Amino acid sequence: MLACVDSAALMGIDAYIVNVEVDVSSSFPSFTIVGLPDAAVQESKERVIAATRNSALEFPRRRIVINLAPADTKKEGPSFDLPIALGILIASETISQPMLKRFVAIGELSLDGSVKPVNGVLPIALDAKANGKEAIIVPKENAREAAVVRGIHVFPVDCLTQTIELLKECGPEPFQGSPLDEALENPEYRIDFSDVKAQEAAKRALEVAAAGGHNIIMIGPPGSGKSMLARRLPTILPPLNLDEALETTKIVSVAGQMPANTALITSRPFRSPHHTVSNAGLIGGGTIPRPGEVSLSHNGVLFLDELPEFSRDVLEVMRQPLEDGVVTISRAAMSLTFPARFMLVAAMNPCPCGFATDPTRNCNCMPQQVRRYLMKISGPLLDRIDIHIEVPHLRQDQLMSEQTGEASLPIRDRVRRAREVQQRRFEGLPIYCNAHMQSKQLKTFCPIDEPVKDLLKGAIHQLNLSARAYDRILKLSRTIADLAGLEQILPNHVAEAVQYRSLDRKLWG
Ligand SMILES: Nc1ncnc2c1ncn2[C@@H]1O[C@H](COP(=O)(O)OP(=O)(O)O)[C@@H](O)[C@H]1O
Ligand SMILES: [Mg+2]
Repeated sequence: MLACVDSAALMGIDAYIVNVEVDVSSSFPSFTIVGLPDAAVQESKERVIAATRNSALEFPRRRIVINLAPADTKKEGPSFDLPIALGILIASETISQPMLKRFVAIGELSLDGSVKPVNGVLPIALDAKANGKEAIIVPKENAREAAVVRGIHVFPVDCLTQTIELLKECGPEPFQGSPLDEALENPEYRIDFSDVKAQEAAKRALEVAAAGGHNIIMIGPPGSGKSMLARRLPTILPPLNLDEALETTKIVSVAGQMPANTALITSRPFRSPHHTVSNAGLIGGGTIPRPGEVSLSHNGVLFLDELPEFSRDVLEVMRQPLEDGVVTISRAAMSLTFPARFMLVAAMNPCPCGFATDPTRNCNCMPQQVRRYLMKISGPLLDRIDIHIEVPHLRQDQLMSEQTGEASLPIRDRVRRAREVQQRRFEGLPIYCNAHMQSKQLKTFCPIDEPVKDLLKGAIHQLNLSARAYDRILKLSRTIADLAGLEQILPNHVAEAVQYRSLDRKLWG
């Protein structure tokens, strides 16, 4: 007899329905899976046989053919175990036709018949709903994640026997997820800007960066607090909206990195790959490509600590995502595009020993050494970083002081207001924040009057900055004016923006 159970597979961060067709016929016993299964799907046979027998069910000693349709896409992973087992039991009439109709089932089986969690449940649930399915059967650990999608019943299961009971019953209670809006509105962070003492200039620069979505590099001696500051940047970014949260969750889910019992990623990601990261680790890879760090930090922060230590090659491949907000991974079989719009935060020492800019310590690096160290960062990459700041070493008394800094929440509110202004400004354009403006848009959105233009030109000349720096300073001035709630860019906005560029002249000039 023939049976068909719907399941789903992943393509990039999206899912598509896979029909698990099962034919059980009475000839010599055999078990075949076709439809481009990978090794893990092939091994499904052994898990399904053992799980069925250990659930006190009879496994048919007949000829079994499974087709995973559409047959022309590669299928991977163990998530077809459950639908395959159900299909065989239905086709062999070991269990009766399900009462539950139009459902999608996913889950890995253990040899003892228990159902284990799988990756990518959110995109699968979204796709099942889009395809008009009524219900989705998922491993119980994945239930909260699936229940984020409204308008489809979620049935969590923990073993094969329970799944069969579920199919027999008419109208069991579906799983109820928890409301999301509140979690999105008040993301939880265990760290806060108030933990950082002094460093007012650096904090202000991070606020400007957050407000306009500008990439930023911090330069300072070891222990000056660069990592500490970077980690706190997500806490002052505006809360994720539902679309952003869904997209971020899809990426994390497909990468198999969802924290246990988490429904939706509600806080902005912070990723900090080690400088030994490979190209594939950074931009994504694998035979069936998986998202890399640039995508895992989508809608959040990618922190590259000790920037000059990263291989040039790795920094080169970051150029596409920095430019386009997406990353394309080409494989013989397919080419996939993942979202990758992140804020780049980089940190580095001013020289190999780290103390060139520290007035309290002696730097013993040779000038050529310092040069070679700084030249490791390519011009094109540096060009994409709008803000350069120096983070000085704090004095002992500043570190010991009882005085706490401003908390993340009020800063986040200011950033949020500035972002709202930008949203209105760029309505209908594929731009979300000032940092993404193209040169030709600067004229429209950053008008400055003659005295301000003169000031800017004077600064460029005096500081020997490039023409590109002119555009960057204009963009930054726009953000600083937005933070001040002003439509007009004033001289003091430009003056502050110029400060955020003085370091490249000092170090690279
Ligand atoms: N401004 C600061 N306020 C409070 N603690 C600080 C500050 N700056 C540095 N520290 C302390 O010094 C440690 C080292 O800072 P870190 O961020 O790792 O420095 P860096 O990344 O620049 O080498 C931090 O974990 C923190 O305990
Ligand atoms: Mg550090």
